[in-house]
Amino acid sequence: MNIHLTSPLDMHLHLREDEILSLVTPLSAHSFCGGVIMPNLIDPVDTKRKLLAYREKIIDASHSDTFTPFMTLFFKPFSREELESVRDDIIGIKLYPAGITTQSENGVTDFNDIMATLEAMEELEIPLLVHGESGGFVMDREKEFCFVYRDLAQRFPKLHIIMEHITTRNAVDLLEEYENLSATITLHHLLITLDDVAGGMLEPDLFCKPIAKTPDDREALREVVFGGHPRIMFGSDSAPHPRHKKECVGCAAGIFSSPVALPLLAQVFEEAECLDKLQGFISDIACRRYGLVPPEKNITLTRKAWRVPERYGSIRPFYAGKEIRWSLV
Ligand code: DOR
Ligand code: ZN
Repeated sequence: MNIHLTSPLDMHLHLREDEILSLVTPLSAHSFCGGVIMPNLIDPVDTKRKLLAYREKIIDASHSDTFTPFMTLFFKPFSREELESVRDDIIGIKLYPAGITTQSENGVTDFNDIMATLEAMEELEIPLLVHGESGGFVMDREKEFCFVYRDLAQRFPKLHIIMEHITTRNAVDLLEEYENLSATITLHHLLITLDDVAGGMLEPDLFCKPIAKTPDDREALREVVFGGHPRIMFGSDSAPHPRHKKECVGCAAGIFSSPVALPLLAQVFEEAECLDKLQGFISDIACRRYGLVPPEKNITLTRKAWRVPERYGSIRPFYAGKEIRWSLV
């Protein structure tokens, strides 16, 4: 038995730089026809010059595979002229609250300072991608941030706002209130809860931001993904960190899932008896919401088990050492 997928897209992807970029980009390019590239490099991608240089490096690193990097700028207050000049080179602008996650120190500290930029983005039809967490108690951060999403969605009704990697029932419910909100959901948040991260021995490989939440939150995500919600798209948030940055004091947040994403999604959708919804989740809904015409790439998965490697270079992948029933042909 085979599954055929057309032009899979990863709508939230960290490719990093240098050796990690060279290691992980071909793994994404092998499965996906394109990805939305996160800009939180050590020196954030916050100018057109940096963005074009980074895009070239990604294209070089993807070798012969068809893979389009859909670039994002790191949000800072931009003038209208700056936005106009970069508009055709980006899929959107990624907003991080300052200090909320890996390499987000230069993010936004006061939302009152950014209204002019958001107004210009709305007029120029540039989507806003948001890491939606407050600085509160870790399990409440997304719920608290829903106030910000609500405020932005109301003030800028024509601004397409993407709630990145949502993890809670609150965020799922909020989507229903405003047509200009979309969301991405990761593979790992469909599978794990906080118990998997810290309920037994601490699992650094499952530590990410936003942290996995309760079984009820996970159920809310599964319901909308498996139900084919028309504004929810797949974004892996695959975020590679070398082992020495995970297995140490001060474990870095991030789960490296790109090499297992499509086979494991197939397994999860099959178990939920909704394989017919997979194509929408991994491509069609994103194309509709963003108005994208993706490069054509046909991917076949076959029902053949394989064991996920313990390492890709210095990085342990999600599901390391475990078996997955579907393989990429
Ligand atoms: O777990 C995460 N890792 N969440 C993020 O928001 C950033 C990412 C990273 O860059 O490592
Ligand atoms: Zn991310």
